[in-house]
Amino acid sequence: MPDDRRVRPDTPRDRLPGLGAWTVVSPAAEPAVPSPEGAAGPGGAADSDLLRAARGLPVRRTPVWFMRQAGRSLPEYRALRAGTAMLDACQDPDLVTEITLQPVRRHGVDAAILFSDIVLPLVVAGVDLEIAPGVGPVVASPVRTVADVDALPDLEPDRLDFLATAVGRLVAELGATPLIGFAGAPFTLATYLIEGGPSKEHARTKAFMYAEPEAWGRLLSRLAASAATFLRVQIDAGASAVQLFDSWAGVLSAADYAERVLPHSRAVFDGLAGRDVPRIHFGVGTGELLPLIGDAGADVVGVDWRVPLDEAARRVGPGRSLQGNLDPAVLLADRPTVDREVRRVLEQGRAARGHVFNLGHGVLPETDPGVLTHVVDLVHRLSTR
Ligand code: CP3
Repeated sequence: MPDDRRVRPDTPRDRLPGLGAWTVVSPAAEPAVPSPEGAAGPGGAADSDLLRAARGLPVRRTPVWFMRQAGRSLPEYRALRAGTAMLDACQDPDLVTEITLQPVRRHGVDAAILFSDIVLPLVVAGVDLEIAPGVGPVVASPVRTVADVDALPDLEPDRLDFLATAVGRLVAELGATPLIGFAGAPFTLATYLIEGGPSKEHARTKAFMYAEPEAWGRLLSRLAASAATFLRVQIDAGASAVQLFDSWAGVLSAADYAERVLPHSRAVFDGLAGRDVPRIHFGVGTGELLPLIGDAGADVVGVDWRVPLDEAARRVGPGRSLQGNLDPAVLLADRPTVDREVRRVLEQGRAARGHVFNLGHGVLPETDPGVLTHVVDLVHRLSTR
C-alpha cells in the first residue's frame, strides 16, 4: 500500500486521500504496513501530544479529539452505515477501520477513537441487546433479580478476534496518531442491563443497588472483568491509550459512588496491570465526584462542561491531567461564540497538569462537521508552544 495513504497528523487535509469517500484502507488479504517510525519510537504514537499531555509532559500543542467524533455528524459515516445495524458494524473490521479513520482524515484530530460501543462486550458474550436508532441500547430481558445476575454470560476473549483485527489494522494505518481504545464502566453498563434501556433517573438501578447489595457487587465485578477483557484485547493489539466511560455515574452521591461503584471501576484498571498506556476516566455530571474519580486509577480525568477546568483541577488534585470540556451545544452557536468558548477552555485548562482538549460530552448529531474542523485548527493555533 502506498505510504501516502497513511494518516498523519501533520499531513494537510487536502492531501489526504479518500476524504469523504469510502476506501477500504487495509484489505484483509494485504498485510498491514508497519509505521516507519514505529508506534513506540521517537515521533511515534507514544511520543504524541496526546500521550504526553496524558502523562503531564510538555507538549508541542494542546492535543484535541472529540468524544463521538466517529458518527452521525459525518455524512460519510451515514453513507457507510446505511443498511448495517450498529452492532453488526461494530463487529466488521473493514467498517470499524474506515469509520474510525474518517474523523482523523477530515478534522486532523490528535487521536482516533475506536468505532465500537460500550455495550458490545455484552452482546459478544450473548446478552440479547440491540441499539435502537435514535434511542440507544435496549435489552430484551433486563436484569431484575439476583438469579438474573447469576445467569449473565461471561465474555470469552477468543470471541474478540474481530476487535484485535480491526485495532491492528488501525494502528498500522494511523502511524504516529494514537488510537484510543475504550470500554463502559461497570456502573454505566449496569444501568442499561437493569433499566432495559436508556433512562433519566436510573431509579431501578439504584433500587437494586440498595436492595441487593451482594448481587449488586457480583454484577459490577462481572462487568468489571468483561470491561478489562475488552480493554486488554485493544491494548494488546496496539491501542495507545484507553478511556473508561462511566457516563451516568453522576446520578450517584459521592458516598454511594465511593462505596458501591468506585472499587469496581478500579478493578477494571487493575485488570490492565503491566500494560503501560494512559488511562482516561470520564463521566457526565460528576462535579461532586471529581475528587474520587481519579482514585479509580486514571491518569486523565474527563470533565463535562458544568465545572470549569481550573476548578476541576483543584478538585481532582495535582497528580492527574484533565480532558474536556467545551459544551457540545456551543458548536451549534455562532462562530464568535465558538471561538470565545474555545479560548476560555484552553485558558482554564492551563491550571491542569496536562490538558487534552475535548467536548464535555459527545458530538451532537446535528453538529456541522466544518465547525469541528475549525475547532481543531483553532486549538492547535492558539496552543502552539
Ligand atoms: O466516536 C466515538 O466516540 C467512538 C464510538 C462510540 C460510540 N459509542 C458509537 C456509537 C463510543 C465511544 C460510544 C460510547 C458509548 N455508547 C457511551 C459512552 C459515551 C457517552 O456518550 O456517554 C454510551 C452511553 C453508549 C451507549 C449508546 N450507544 C448510546 C446512548 C447511543 C446513542 C443512541 C442514539 O442513536 O442516539 C449508542 C449508539 C451509538 N454508539 C451510535 C454511535 C455512532 C449511533 C448509532 C447510529 O449511528 O445509528
